[in-house]
Amino acid sequence: PVVHWFPGHMAKATRMIKDYVKKVDVVIELLDARIPRSSANPVITEVVGQKPHIIVLNKVDLADAKATKAWTEFFTAQGITVLAIDSKTGKGKKQLVKAVERLSKPIIDKWTAKGIRSRSVRTIILGIPNVGKSTLINSLAGAAATRTADKPGHTRGQQWVKIGKNLELLDTPGVLWPKLEDQRAAARLAMTGAISDDVYDLEAVMKQLLMQLTEQARDVLMARYKLKEEHLVSTDTLLDAIGRKRGCLVSGGVVDLDKARRIILNDYRSAKLGLLTLDAVDEEPYYTDGEDK
Ligand code: G4P
Repeated sequence: PVVHWFPGHMAKATRMIKDYVKKVDVVIELLDARIPRSSANPVITEVVGQKPHIIVLNKVDLADAKATKAWTEFFTAQGITVLAIDSKTGKGKKQLVKAVERLSKPIIDKWTAKGIRSRSVRTIILGIPNVGKSTLINSLAGAAATRTADKPGHTRGQQWVKIGKNLELLDTPGVLWPKLEDQRAAARLAMTGAISDDVYDLEAVMKQLLMQLTEQARDVLMARYKLKEEHLVSTDTLLDAIGRKRGCLVSGGVVDLDKARRIILNDYRSAKLGLLTLDAVDEEPYYTDGEDK
């Protein structure tokens, strides 16, 4: 994939997010439940610093339930508070508010002990593009949200939205850059639609998706496209067979491969090939294609 992030931009983005994070007491990091490792920002720890931190696995409605459980256990084992939610329907958002309130309790206790008149606890949602930040903010804020007035020192337009007892959310999310240097992660970001369709190599991305589908969703794949065993011997035969079944033919009976690729990609994204989590907990966390940089 072609990467549009440069070191200068990343340094500036890091500074901006750090400024955002300074204003809050608890940080909510949104990950895509289908790719909890690939959708994490590479320098999130540096960005978040010492603030209490909650991981939210969003789009859980599109992920494999067993994998979501495994990822939840993985983060829990590291002492991180983790929740799975579906921001589109709002399923799980009450638990999220409760978790933030729970994590902020020690902060309020500290304020009380110091004799500081306690104010509302503040939180922010951080995440890579398209992970569902705006959807979650809208869901938490609700249509008739009580918005507190702009406070001095905050960028105009940014507002605090009351989302719980003594709890306010910044209505502007912090946008983090995705993990594009890891080619396996970059391809999965493309598969899930986190990277815009015109900046990556569709052929390479789809080769990887077809391999994962063959491995993880063989039966669904065969049923949906009415395939035979012999079509599964390679990603080329698979793509060709699906293209023929779907009538992606150009003159001379040749398959329009890109058309076939797009059909499969759309089917994956809309969960027509089942609920598939692409990142596995027990994979190598970093992937290199063997080339020296
Ligand atoms: P962002 O602010 O992080 O950039 O993401 P945004 O909220 O714009 O969401 C990106 C896409 O993901 C939207 O789809 C949104 O509806 C979808 N989405 C967000 N949360 C969830 C979720 O929990 N489950 C599912 N299934 N989808 C979710 P879109 O294609 O841009 O629009 P539309 O399909 O809603 O029309």
